[in-house]
Amino acid sequence: MKIVTIGRGRIGGGLARLWREAGHDVDELGRDGGDVSDADVVLVAVPGDQVSPALSKVTGLAGKVAIDATNVLPPRGGDAPSNAEEVKSFTGAPVAKSFNMNFAGLFDQVRAQRVRPSNWYVADDGAREVTEQLIRDAGYDPVHVGDLSRARDFEGAVWLLLGISPVGGVFYRFAEPGEL
Ligand SMILES: NC(=O)c1ccc[n+]([C@@H]2O[C@H](COP(=O)([O-])OP(=O)(O)OC[C@H]3O[C@@H](n4cnc5c(N)ncnc54)[C@H](OP(=O)(O)O)[C@@H]3O)[C@@H](O)[C@H]2O)c1
Repeated sequence: MKIVTIGRGRIGGGLARLWREAGHDVDELGRDGGDVSDADVVLVAVPGDQVSPALSKVTGLAGKVAIDATNVLPPRGGDAPSNAEEVKSFTGAPVAKSFNMNFAGLFDQVRAQRVRPSNWYVADDGAREVTEQLIRDAGYDPVHVGDLSRARDFEGAVWLLLGISPVGGVFYRFAEPGEL
């Protein structure tokens, strides 16, 4: 798959590395933007209050399936109900919200766990298949928790994870009965 990350920091750069290890072709864009015309999917991994400024510098977004990994730290501005819907206002295509509930500082250890950590996501139906594949290819198990109308709640729920996490972060695992 051809992936372009918009943001090449801890999340964008970290996922780029994991996805390359899984065999994907990944380009990374920084704050100067660039073109995503040849991407099958784009990842948005910029500061949560910089979604529109960052995407304004990117060409070729129309029609692209996007995965939004941003969080609302610092608090978001703008009129869209969520960062994910702000992304959608640029792409006009299916969007997923994922990887915002994971810790980039733990990416190096994902594949070393006894069981695959979970990764919650919300998404439009048209973004689910590619998002689940990229969650798996990063070493996590996808857990679908709702459609994109839940994106704002999902962004607001990050305090749960930060509240229970020791410095450095945690993995989490949701399991079917009998799995544990
Ligand atoms: N770090 C985590 O563990 C974690 C976990 C979950 C979610 N998140 C979320 O993921 C997003 C990215 O976090 P991160 O930790 O990867 O951040 P980071 O390491 O600071 O990287 C930010 C990236 O965004 C780019 N960018 C584009 N437009 C920008 C602008 N106008 N101002 C500043 N930077 C701009 C930067 O470009 P340059 O390369 O040109 O500087 C950089 O590549 C945030 O929304 C964060 O809340 C982070």
